[in-house]
Amino acid sequence: RFKAVIFDLDGVITDTAHYHYLAWKQLAESQGVHFDHAFNENLKGIDRMGSLDLILASAPRSYTPEEKLALADTKNLHYQELISTMSSNDLLPGAVEALDAVRRAGLRIGLASVSKNAFTVLGRLGITDKFDYVVDAATIARSKPDPEIFLRAAQELGVAPADCLGVEDAVAGVAAIKAAGMFALGIGHPFVLTEADVVITSLQQFNLSAY
Ligand code: BG6
Ligand code: MG
Repeated sequence: RFKAVIFDLDGVITDTAHYHYLAWKQLAESQGVHFDHAFNENLKGIDRMGSLDLILASAPRSYTPEEKLALADTKNLHYQELISTMSSNDLLPGAVEALDAVRRAGLRIGLASVSKNAFTVLGRLGITDKFDYVVDAATIARSKPDPEIFLRAAQELGVAPADCLGVEDAVAGVAAIKAAGMFALGIGHPFVLTEADVVITSLQQFNLSAY
């Protein structure tokens, strides 16, 4: 019943969500901000500066725009170091099988990640050519939970939002999919991704004909 599937990247296709966590945790603690997995859950799917603002809201002092840019750069350099040795070994179980199943079913495939490192990560994983369209995060004005990035993907794929299945591991990402008027498949826990239409543990359970 769907004409396209639009995937998130970090935490869905590869475990870069963990690398983002490590890099943000170091950055937060360097500024005297306590950082744990619960806090990190709110940052998933949020763009770099938006995430930094959420972290610094708990800092003991305020920051100039220049200081914020420098901190964002520090986090990104750390993140880029963490992803520099990634390879196809870092694909999450079931990811390639899911992409190939969507392809065999004749649907269009999009990628909607707000990460400006998404093209690099896809390249390291060796799966760039599995996508019909990859949104360039640099051209997106509003981070998830705004639907902009999913609507852009649908538009470029030439498919109406109602005919799209969106796949997300983040609370903000599921909210973005629903705001775009799409069917939301959550990857994770039903008690976290409460807005998703269906939640599965990983793409190993992906079954296109079941949604
Ligand atoms: C999202 C991640 O995909 O990309 C966030 O879920 C991350 O954790 C965001 O902050 C922005 O990534 P980047 O690579 O542009 O800093
Ligand atoms: Mg994600």
